[in-house]
Amino acid sequence: MVDLDAFAEECKAALKADNTTKIVEGLVKKVIADPEGLEKAFAQRKTGNSLVDSIVFNDDDLTIISIDTPPGLQSPAHNHNMWAVIGVYDGEENNRFFQDADGDLRQTGERNLKTGDVAVLNPKAIHAINNPVKKVTKAIHVYGGNILNRPGRSIWNPDTLEREDYNIPNLTAYTNQLSRPL
Ligand SMILES: [Fe+2]
Repeated sequence: MVDLDAFAEECKAALKADNTTKIVEGLVKKVIADPEGLEKAFAQRKTGNSLVDSIVFNDDDLTIISIDTPPGLQSPAHNHNMWAVIGVYDGEENNRFFQDADGDLRQTGERNLKTGDVAVLNPKAIHAINNPVKKVTKAIHVYGGNILNRPGRSIWNPDTLEREDYNIPNLTAYTNQLSRPL
């Protein structure tokens, strides 16, 4: 069984270090090494089916959340405006990375996270994710801030590729538009 309270305390302690994301990366690697224990620990805390119900910890400096991604889901490009560490403990999460040079969104890389993989995103990272496998992908996400309320976040319109202010209705509409059943 994974102790999520202890995990949150270790992440909080890492915020005070110079190499915060390196430490959090190690902590995430450790908890996803026990996928069944992690899933049980998340299930015990989950209070419902919305994203907010899956939050383990959330304040202005740190958010810890479990995110399940259905098969074929594809998100639009978006930023977080804070560092993020993502650890996949079941399934796969494909990440495309972008840069926005004066309004010109260009893909700069791609990484398919498989079970057991961890990605560290810097605060300026722009990514779009999709689940390429025929099963729900399960991941732990740790963010260096309050992911539920962060000024300066953007989302890129999939049709025009124009930058827009991030908001949940747009994220949901674009995700529904891009996602395909597998
Ligand atoms: Fe993201």
